[in-house]
Amino acid sequence: MSNGLENVVAAETVLSDVDGLAGRLVIRGLPLDAIAGKLSFEHVLTRLWADMFPAMKDQLQPALGASRAAVFAALATEFASAAALPLFDGMRALLARLTDDDSLDSALRLTAGPAVVLSALLRLKAGDQPLAPDPALGHAADMLRMTSGRQPSAAETAGLDTYLVTVIDHGLNASTFTARVVASTGAGLGSSVLAALGALKGPLHGGAPGPVLDMLDAIRTPEAAETWIQTELQSGARLMGFGHRIYRARDPRADALAGALAQLKAGGGVNARLALAEAIERAALAALVRHKPDRKLETNVEFYTALLLEALGFPRDVFTAVFAAGRIGGWIAHAREQALTGRLIRPQSVYVGPKPQRAA
Ligand code: ACO
Repeated sequence: MSNGLENVVAAETVLSDVDGLAGRLVIRGLPLDAIAGKLSFEHVLTRLWADMFPAMKDQLQPALGASRAAVFAALATEFASAAALPLFDGMRALLARLTDDDSLDSALRLTAGPAVVLSALLRLKAGDQPLAPDPALGHAADMLRMTSGRQPSAAETAGLDTYLVTVIDHGLNASTFTARVVASTGAGLGSSVLAALGALKGPLHGGAPGPVLDMLDAIRTPEAAETWIQTELQSGARLMGFGHRIYRARDPRADALAGALAQLKAGGGVNARLALAEAIERAALAALVRHKPDRKLETNVEFYTALLLEALGFPRDVFTAVFAAGRIGGWIAHAREQALTGRLIRPQSVYVGPKPQRAA
């Protein structure tokens, strides 16, 4: 048995390759640093989904824009009741209303869904009316516009586009594996995506970036970092935004996002938290070496996710939903890839319960 399925290979994929020792991520033949900040989310989505659907198009941007409009129209009467729920739960409830077949059309609507829904729910929670999508805009620009009610700057659009591309796919992480398990039963794309959303929510996976900001708030000044971190580790807590099941080197996505944050800062759009974050990162890495000398614990994607999404104006309780807006492209590609193999995923367990007895 492999506890937590560590080192178990459970699928062949053409979608992404995570080299944990080298700290390298390849998305369908392109290294992360060749696409993050260089290609749009739609462009990378088109590449990721190539050959996955019979009706696949050469360029998905217009179809994704039209799908945002279709999702908004289909769900507009449901937004108000979903806004009463915590945002992630409201998003999950609304995405469950979308179609559940394996068509390209369904895939596009599901991909459009998180951007449209999280923007609408955020606005309603703030007392504003949801804004209809502008299908002519790129996905990242429209998501920012629908959320804030203003046209985003080029630097903001680039920052969110970089984020969505950076997180679009990452091997057999917990949520993607979940999507593949569900797809392997023959359930539709909607069911696969909903199950993956549930897996993403936990703090050991996509729920970490909000608590990263809580840590920054608790530490407050660079001078306080070392003592605070030491106390946390001594109490047995884990430092959010550090450590990874696969990476034994620095997560390359952390650098991609730190780069996007620096660009945003150059445009004057970010506050002074970056210096505090960098001091905390240095103190955390030094403390983790002392805490677990045998296990290389490095900065993961969630640390700079927290800073970038905060700088883009997203509140921390919505970070996991923004993560879903990018990762959904990978979930759908993996669900299709698994479904096309026609093979059910069904591992075994070792029984360690009481020996069988006759009922008294
Ligand atoms: N802070 C303190 N200790 C840690 C941390 C951390 N961030 N990460 C791992 N450790 C410790 C573990 O407690 C474990 O100690 P033990 O042997 O005494 O039990 C030891 O290091 C080894 O842990 P791993 O086996 O490397 O951890 P695992 O692969 O099970 O978990 C995980 C990886 C869940 C990401 C873990 O590092 C963690 O909890 N990090 C904090 C949460 C986080 O940032 N999650 C986002 C991950 S990125 C993503 O999913 C998109």
